[in-house]
Amino acid sequence: MDPALIFQSMDRDAMLNLLGSAVQHMPIMKFYNGQQMTKCIYICAKLRICEKLGNTVQSKKSCYDIATEVGAHGESLYRMMRAMSTEGFFSECIGQGMEKGIFQHTNLSIQLLNQVTRDEALLHCGTAFYLSWESLYETVMTGKTSGFKSLDSTSLWDFLKKNPEADIEFTKGMASMSSPSVQHLVKMGDFSKFEIVCDVGGSHGLLLNEILKNYPTIKQGLNFDQPIVFENLKKLGERQLDPRFSDVGGNFFESVPEADCYVFKWVLHNWNDDQCVEILANVSEAIRTNGKVYLAEHMGEDSAGDFSLKKRYVAWTDLHMMNLLNGKVRNKSEWNQLISRTDFKIDQFVESDQGLTQNFIILSKKSSAR
Ligand SMILES: C[S@@+](CC[C@H](N)C(=O)[O-])C[C@H]1O[C@@H](n2cnc3c(N)ncnc32)[C@H](O)[C@@H]1O
Repeated sequence: MDPALIFQSMDRDAMLNLLGSAVQHMPIMKFYNGQQMTKCIYICAKLRICEKLGNTVQSKKSCYDIATEVGAHGESLYRMMRAMSTEGFFSECIGQGMEKGIFQHTNLSIQLLNQVTRDEALLHCGTAFYLSWESLYETVMTGKTSGFKSLDSTSLWDFLKKNPEADIEFTKGMASMSSPSVQHLVKMGDFSKFEIVCDVGGSHGLLLNEILKNYPTIKQGLNFDQPIVFENLKKLGERQLDPRFSDVGGNFFESVPEADCYVFKWVLHNWNDDQCVEILANVSEAIRTNGKVYLAEHMGEDSAGDFSLKKRYVAWTDLHMMNLLNGKVRNKSEWNQLISRTDFKIDQFVESDQGLTQNFIILSKKSSAR
């Protein structure tokens, strides 16, 4: 039946009720489009649509010209950008005499001009993370993720190993997410007494390089990660690294190199408690007398009704870790419990007061003799 006829046949109150419920449902409808928006942002980042549109919030351009420049299908790009504009990402310029398909930047779309934001968007909206959400139902039902089974992989790391392009996207995204916080993190720690600092799961090595820059007395910086990460990093070209810096390939479930300071940034939240105990047992084997372990992690907060940016960030990261890797963003008591199962004790929680920078949890051996 024609919807107009349904309205005509209703009395006024029934019609207002129906409209009222439609309006009430709008906020939830907004979330239905979450996955489409994720994909749209990925395409904008990948094709660099926002740079093509222009450099300022005032910039305007025809999406058909952009389509020609990036080799896309004009009408399809138009329909994508029009849908995005209804969420405030781009503004469609509609008016008398205006040709169809002219878009202007908004405060949202302009953000993708920034390389750090673009690399983060490619990571968060890219294939690996996007497809992993397929398993959320199973994760919630069983308490265990099998995230990458549908992608013929046993885990995120296995998937990245088989897909070098996704691995490079991952490493670039991690570097972009790390770059705003490494300087502040280095200021939060004291690395003056160490000869060898090992960044475990160091990936791009931004944090280790910053530590070396600030502490000329450190003799060696070991950036420890999976060999495949370093093979793929070479494809990105030369990195500007301190002469004391070296990449060391390995598997922290087997062993870690000898050092007197181990830094783990955003690593243990990837693993469940038993796996963290295993990794820390290998650190315990290798650590020098009086050595320290610095864990850079966000801390779960349990305060109710707090919708601060940090709380939202932590809660969504925790869900992401649960579904992606059976990992967890732990709160203080969960850290205390976990570390009590290892050869280490917690010396100090150093809480960050800056934006989304992680906290440090500093550990030393219960008995420092090896
Ligand atoms: C979430 S990333 C963190 C990267 C970096 N620390 C940062 O904060 O940007 C986790 C890192 O752990 C590494 N990793 C995963 N499994 C590993 C293993 N078994 N041995 C060594 N490194 C591993 C990954 O390759 C990845 O670089």
